[in-house]
Amino acid sequence: MTTYIGAPTSRIDGRTKVTGEARYAAEFTAPGLTYGSIVSATIAKGHMTSIDSRAALAVDGVIAVFTHENRPPLANTDQAYKDDVAPDGSPFRPLYDDRIMFNGQPIALVVAETPEAAQFAASLMQVKYKEEAHVTDIYQLRESALPVNAASNPTPPKTRGNPDQALTTAAVRHRAEYFVPIGYHNPIELYASTAIFEADGKLTVYDKTQGVQNVQKYLCSVFGINPDDLRIMSPFMGGGFGSGLRPQFQVVLAVLAARELKRSVRVMLTRAQMYALGYRSAMIQRIEAGTNTGQTLDVITHDAVTVTSQYEEFHRQETGWSGLLYKAPHAKYTHKLVRLDLATSSSMRGPGAATALFALESAMDELAIKLKLDPVEFRLRCYSDRDQNEDKPYRSKALRECYRQGAESFGWSTRNPEPRSMRDDGDLVGWGMATGVWQALQAKITVRIVLSADGRAEVACAVSDIGTGTYTIMAQVAADTLGLPLENITVTLGDSTLPHAPVEGGSWLATSVANGIVTTAEAIRDELLSLANQIPSSPLANCSTGDVCLVAGCLVSKRDRSCFVSLADAMRQGKVDRITQEKTTLPAENHTHANNTHAAHFVEVKVDEELGVIRVTRAVSAIAAGRILNTKTASSQILGGVVWGIGMALHEKALIDHAFGRVMNANLADYHVPVHADIQDIKVIFVDEPDDSNPLGLKGVGEIGIIGVAAAVANAVYHATGKRVRELPITHDKLLGP
Ligand code: MOS
Repeated sequence: MTTYIGAPTSRIDGRTKVTGEARYAAEFTAPGLTYGSIVSATIAKGHMTSIDSRAALAVDGVIAVFTHENRPPLANTDQAYKDDVAPDGSPFRPLYDDRIMFNGQPIALVVAETPEAAQFAASLMQVKYKEEAHVTDIYQLRESALPVNAASNPTPPKTRGNPDQALTTAAVRHRAEYFVPIGYHNPIELYASTAIFEADGKLTVYDKTQGVQNVQKYLCSVFGINPDDLRIMSPFMGGGFGSGLRPQFQVVLAVLAARELKRSVRVMLTRAQMYALGYRSAMIQRIEAGTNTGQTLDVITHDAVTVTSQYEEFHRQETGWSGLLYKAPHAKYTHKLVRLDLATSSSMRGPGAATALFALESAMDELAIKLKLDPVEFRLRCYSDRDQNEDKPYRSKALRECYRQGAESFGWSTRNPEPRSMRDDGDLVGWGMATGVWQALQAKITVRIVLSADGRAEVACAVSDIGTGTYTIMAQVAADTLGLPLENITVTLGDSTLPHAPVEGGSWLATSVANGIVTTAEAIRDELLSLANQIPSSPLANCSTGDVCLVAGCLVSKRDRSCFVSLADAMRQGKVDRITQEKTTLPAENHTHANNTHAAHFVEVKVDEELGVIRVTRAVSAIAAGRILNTKTASSQILGGVVWGIGMALHEKALIDHAFGRVMNANLADYHVPVHADIQDIKVIFVDEPDDSNPLGLKGVGEIGIIGVAAAVANAVYHATGKRVRELPITHDKLLGP
């Protein structure tokens, strides 16, 4: 029975959020709460020769100042700082020693009775440095970039065919370089941790994170704490986008201070300090592609250079999307890393793919133009029903349908292919399109359900709801699988003491937790059946577990709906007033088929030719992502992704002053993101894509919304103006002039 699954259900936590009842990490409090203010390094590389806390300590209300000189003992191996999603290398260790590895690195924590005292005192810290030469410009080290470690995961897929040869014989060839600058996640909620020092000396930490258990494990390892003495809570999150996949340094500092002072401590970052966390790596990409005489792709090569820190090797599988998406007998990928004096780069919404597809989908547009083919037509000619990197077929891939429905809804067929041919009231009009592709994954998860005789159920799992709607989809799936009304379901999440969950990321969480609920609900059903069948002459006496389902508060025979036992009667028979089941669900085994989500984005821009002002006036995104659990929250998720894609195309760029190795626009006034005036008409379409890779047929919609959008905008700008901009963001200056 699916009353709720698939329905456009409003967020069950919506009211709590809009009324301000929902509390975020910096909003929890405790008697005698103290406030920590972080002091940040002002050089990019070197070490501190002195750090003087005297003036800070003299401020009224200041309780303590922690630096590398007086901090308590911390784990002394870098392995102890590895979290669940840490890349290769040696993680950053806050307040560990006098070394400075990036500008903005936390070097001291000032704790005071009030936030104002802490902040003021932090400004009085006297730090002397011995500076070393630093490099923060990817172009400066591009030539000496090193191939990604072959033993690390993920690495670029293997070469296919003979790409060098194929390029020399290609009928039509395209070769170009594309650039995406460093970008920041910029969630509206600032990173914060409130560490509550409980009466028994245990700590409860309200932390902004995408994975409470990841943070708990990490802190236990760093501080040598028993897991029973440290509870991490994250009931709500005001945006993460990947910045909260790894534990962030403020939680280390809050816990360090709370343990030392035996008091509760809150540490919240400033907006500027948010730019010392991870970021989306800059990416220099070169695409070389050739077509055959049949006007289809014959060969594609994709070379990428991305950024990591001096101490870790973060990268994703950036290049392989090229040879995955389009049929090409010959393909080659290389990926090199540049080590800069910055914090380690990190996952940011569709990591790897959002940047890679800007290059790939721009290149496909450029090739289509050379071939005088419609961009959709060219992509259809190159359509692949297999994942060629893995040489596996798809169980489902409804990308063709995305192209068809997206184009139809957009009105693509009336497009005049000639650049600068379409105008509206003096503005140049451009229509562009691009494809998106992302992974569809499932992770191991444990879900607990407690079902009461009164027909209420509590579903619990240590997942996070990073704003995507996890509370709601969990309630929907539980309601349907337990046969109860949605309002009878309570969802508990964001607490490290709950059953095991992976971090919320990679677009894998909805698939994982929803199928996890199905498994546990089946165990509940089975237990109810065994109770029901203890009833003398039970109407379900002849039923085995697969023959019954839960509907409207009853256990019902699937064969004969008139045979049923109510939950209340079954529990009364068993002399229980509740049933508890906790089950672990492993990812569905799948060695034979590839599993991806896809998108087709269509974008209209209008360009004021004299000023170079670009406006995205319309966008249609058609998404194929298996079964959609909630068309309302899923639509919102895609819409947000498209907005990000517009920001990536037109606005976003970290401006680093390489002389100081410092982000100069570390605030939301100077780091431009789209505002309401930039966003007009966006339509989201979900195409039908039945899939049986997991019991519910889910693929996840967390990230696919952004992937490809920047290229669709760039392609539309080309169509409007005849100017091909291969370096993001497409700002006015790049359109003006020759
Ligand atoms: Mo996502 S970038 O895995 O939060």
